[in-house]
Amino acid sequence: MIVVSNKKPSQFAGDILVYLVRQSEKKRPPVCSDKLVQERIDHAFELGDCRGKKEECLLIYPQRVFDGVRAKRLLIVGLGKDELNRELFRRAGGVIAQKALALKAEKLFLVVPEELSFPVGEMAECLSEGLILGSYQFKKYKKEEEEEEGKSIEIKRIGLYVSDVSLVHARKGVKRGLAAGNAGMVVRDMANEPGNVWTPQAFADYGEKIAREGELAYRVMESDEMRQLKMGGILGVSQGSALPPKLVVLEYRTGKSVPTLLLVGKGLTFDSGGLSLKPGENMGDMKYDMCGGAAVMAAMQAIAEEKPGRVDVVALVPAAENMPSATALKPGDIIRQYGGKTVEVLNTDAEGRLILADALAYGVEHYKPDAVVDVATLTGAVIIGLGHHRTGLLANNDELAANVLAAGEKAGEPLWRLPLAEEYKEQLKSKIADLKNIGGKAGGTITAAAFLQEFVGNTPWAHLDIAGTAWDYTEKSYIPKGPSGIAARTLIELVRSWR
Ligand code: BES
Ligand code: ZN
Ligand code: ZN
Repeated sequence: MIVVSNKKPSQFAGDILVYLVRQSEKKRPPVCSDKLVQERIDHAFELGDCRGKKEECLLIYPQRVFDGVRAKRLLIVGLGKDELNRELFRRAGGVIAQKALALKAEKLFLVVPEELSFPVGEMAECLSEGLILGSYQFKKYKKEEEEEEGKSIEIKRIGLYVSDVSLVHARKGVKRGLAAGNAGMVVRDMANEPGNVWTPQAFADYGEKIAREGELAYRVMESDEMRQLKMGGILGVSQGSALPPKLVVLEYRTGKSVPTLLLVGKGLTFDSGGLSLKPGENMGDMKYDMCGGAAVMAAMQAIAEEKPGRVDVVALVPAAENMPSATALKPGDIIRQYGGKTVEVLNTDAEGRLILADALAYGVEHYKPDAVVDVATLTGAVIIGLGHHRTGLLANNDELAANVLAAGEKAGEPLWRLPLAEEYKEQLKSKIADLKNIGGKAGGTITAAAFLQEFVGNTPWAHLDIAGTAWDYTEKSYIPKGPSGIAARTLIELVRSWR
């Protein structure tokens, strides 16, 4: 929990009192608002231990009698000397959270420099995001360790000191930061759950929970209805699995006459590849193939809580498992997607596009959205192209693409746009069906998107390929190893800044 406070830092008697400091331009020690703390900083500076560099930490154990500090520990965290930005505060928050976890600290109090050349609300927002995302732990299945260490320790309360005039702005910022940070945490939790726990049914159950809590309209489409509607993609992909597929629908309505945004997330709860079986190495990572669906769900949860007023949001999460079995799709099979297009499935491992195609076509026809954004761990090729540091963005509309890029930038989740053009569709031509589901090695991320494009018509649409960023993403103080929680915050930002 993070609370904004105008109580004097010297009164704080908890585990860590944190001072964030700027690096000085000249060869001078960083400046701190507390005189006694400043003395300690000056001393450390002389030894070369504290310059206020980005993410630099200095831990001090005050001698209470002399230092006039009641806290058990003092932590000085550097902000560097470059122009302040949102990412810097997130990273500082992450550094503080990690230190607190390592020290098993429960109560923290943070003090930022008095004269910040940065909006207080955004500072509070991003610091909060970093603090919450940086304190992520997934210990549910580590019973032994917990028994050894006694109860697991987590940060209980963080105070953020601001002056009286900034209280309101800071409170709003903290609220936004917590909502977005929590969304990232929710995605990581879903992703960390193993495939035998996080099943299509788990998506349905979670949807029901957030709908109840956030007053969203909710429904789950079961396989019977999918058969009636001829959703051959979702049905085909899941026909080799013992688990029935689900299409989870959530609707956030403002009650006003505003545009509708449709979000679609790939909820493949385990991707073995099907009969086009993946190699064994790292196959376990394919439990993360549901991260797009998770991001969409978590974003809906935050949207339900914040209740933005400028856009209605409908979310579709096609959830299924891709398994090899006697009933599985076979390479060469032809399926009929929602809306009637036929697809020759030449590789059963290119399954994401098949379930997304049904959801996109159904969503566009049924909800007539003004814009569509889908999020999916769709292609290994995006890792070859962009590595693990940018999400691939493909869109049929420049304005929507620009808005998504801006939202990602603001959320600290950068994207990179790749082209979509007629030429790429050549690779998807089938001799005997309308399309085939693979286009060869060249431009794999683009041909996957070109496939999806066939199902959105002329509706402005943007596709986020998060195969490289959903896990093993750029490691930062607030991004752990394992699932990153990517894209939920970008979607939230997109909705917040909707014009
Ligand atoms: N879920 C995978 C994509 C993926 C691969 C995500 C690696 C993260 C890491 C997807 O379903 C898939 O298997 N795609 C194939 C498509 C190919 C057969 C055209 C791929 O990328 O290899
Ligand atoms: Zn696959
Ligand atoms: Zn997949």
